[in-house]
This record gives sequence, structure tokens and C-alpha cells, in this order.
Amino acid sequence: MARKKIALIGGGQIGGVMAQLFATRQLGDVVLFDIVEGLPQGKTLDIHEASRIDRFDMNLKGTNDYKDIDNADIVIITAGIPRKPGMSREDLLTTNAKIMTSVANGVKEHAPNSIAIIISNPLDTMVTLFQKVTGFPTNRVIGQAGVLDSSRFSSFIAWELGVSVQDVNAMVLGGHGDSMVPLLRYANVNGVPVIEMLERKYGDVAKAKEVMDAMVERTKKAGGEVVGLLKTGSAFYSPASAATTMAKSILLDEKRLLPCSVYLNGEYGVKGYFVGVPAVLGENGVERVVELTLNDEEQAAFDNSVAAVKNSVANLEKLGF
Ligand code: APR
Repeated sequence: MARKKIALIGGGQIGGVMAQLFATRQLGDVVLFDIVEGLPQGKTLDIHEASRIDRFDMNLKGTNDYKDIDNADIVIITAGIPRKPGMSREDLLTTNAKIMTSVANGVKEHAPNSIAIIISNPLDTMVTLFQKVTGFPTNRVIGQAGVLDSSRFSSFIAWELGVSVQDVNAMVLGGHGDSMVPLLRYANVNGVPVIEMLERKYGDVAKAKEVMDAMVERTKKAGGEVVGLLKTGSAFYSPASAATTMAKSILLDEKRLLPCSVYLNGEYGVKGYFVGVPAVLGENGVERVVELTLNDEEQAAFDNSVAAVKNSVANLEKLGF
């Protein structure tokens, strides 16, 4: 069986970590593309030279030429600039829209049958733009956000409750911005509702709610928290892990149910926008959107988040993209 080909567009912080994850997890051969000469070549050579230590036989190639991504099975895009302290993801719009347009044209020409995962911010808008420029069927265009936001939320829950994070299930819906919607009702530790565990821990419903609300707020601002500490860029280990997990579900047809930014065609009352919801990822990309029944409060928060995505897409159109 031929090995899968994974093209990573953007050889910066996230791209470099992903190259290492794909190789060490033996998911396929990796092509790392960047416009900066030497950067992707240097990173892939460095990772390749650890192959004896990490025991992998995957090939890695760094390149500045789109020809090298020919016929890739999966393309993952991080090209663009990251946030600096004080910036919102939306502040990246103008610069990253130009970059995304050129990347989308390169992918359209050289990997027209690939499944694309987009990480560049502002996420939901960059996904929209990529799909518009490539004309790819919407099941082959997916944004990475929810897997990371949910992992952050799960980490905070595990730390708070003193349980293994492996037993925590928590999901974040909506756009990848400050109005994202961590779902409290569905958060559980191996089936036990988190809110119940908090109430037991504190013996007080109001205090449990206060602690839960603080975790929700931290989740919404978790990207900014990392930016504030790093000062020179944004999170890269965790986004790389999140996208690699999504790609694995596609490459191995695992059909995992993961929250991702996917095209909605009436689901959740939204038509024509990419928004974060649970979806089944398999060999055909987005194979199914899973609808949850939201209560009034959750629906209102979701609608608010969708409004932010619509606003960002409108800004994109105003800029002429
Ligand atoms: N084509 C390909 N690569 C490009 C292009 C382009 N037109 N323009 C810029 N790049 C490359 C840069 O040279 C850089 O190496 O994209 C890379 C981005 O890497 P970093 O600056 O290290 O950013 P990173 O932390 O990887 O984040 C990338 O993901 O999470 C989002 O907000 C984040 O939008 C940002 C993106």
C-alpha cells in the first residue's frame, strides 16, 4: 500500500511541530512548504535526522515549490501571521486573507483532490475564503479549532477535579473567537457530569457554578493567555496536535466525532457558513454533521458566536475577497 502524502503549507511554529508529529506517528510522507527559503528544508532535515532515534521510515521534504505537493492526500494550512499580545484573531484578517488566497490557488492547482484542514486565523473566515477560491466540495474543507478549544477546556476540568484528562469529555462549539461556546451540560468525566462533581467537591451549587464559569472564561481566552506569555507568537504545540488528530481520523478512516469548523447547510439553523460543530471525520473528509439539541441559553450563545463569524465574513467581502 502506498504511503499517504501530507502537505503542510506554512513551515513556521505549527507547521514544524506537525511535521515531527506526522513522521513520528508514522502517518505518511511529509512535504513542508514555506515561502522562506531554507526554513522548511532545514526543519525537515533536522526532523529526518532523528528518524533513527524515533524509529520512523517516513520521508520528509522541505520546499518552496508548490510542485512538490502534487497529489497530496491531505493539505494542512498554517500560512499566515500569528497574533501578538493585545491582538484579536480578527486583527489578522487583511494580511492572512492575502496569504490564504495565494495558498488556495497553489493547492487548487497542485493538490486538487486533497482534503484541506485550515488552521490560519481568523479561522472560520479563512476556511470560508479557502473554499471560495478553490471551489473544493465543502466536505473536503475543514477548520481546526474545536479540537483544540475542547482540549483546553478538558485540561482545565481535569486540573480542577484532580482526575486524568483522558477521562474528561468536553466540547466547544461555535466560531473560534472569544464568543465560542463551551458546552457545560455535556462535559463529563467518564459519563459523570462535571457540574455534579464540582457540586460534590464544594458542597455548594453556587460555588460549583462560579468555578465552572471561570473555566469557561479561561477556555474562551486560552489562546490569548498563551500569546500573552510568549509575546512573540501564538500557541503552536496544541494546535499542531489538534490538526494531526483530525488528519489521522481522515487518513485512517477512523470516523471520530470531533468538533471542527465545517460548512453548515441548514444544520443548527445556519446555512452557508463554516462554524464549529461536532462532525464525523473519515476518508471522505466531513462525513456527517451531528446535531445536538441545545437549550435556550446554549442556542443564544451559539447564535451570538455565529453572528461573530458572519460579521468576519462580511468584513472579508468588504475587503474585496
Ligand atoms: N505561503 C506559504 N507560507 C507562508 C506564506 C505564503 N504566502 N506567507 C507566510 N507564510 C509562512 C511564514 O513564512 C511562516 O513560516 O507561514 C508561516 C507561519 O508560521 P508562524 O509565523 O510561526 O505562525 P504559526 O504559529 O505557525 O501560526 C500560523 O496559525 O494559529 C494560527 O493565528 C495563527 O494565523 C496563524 C497561523
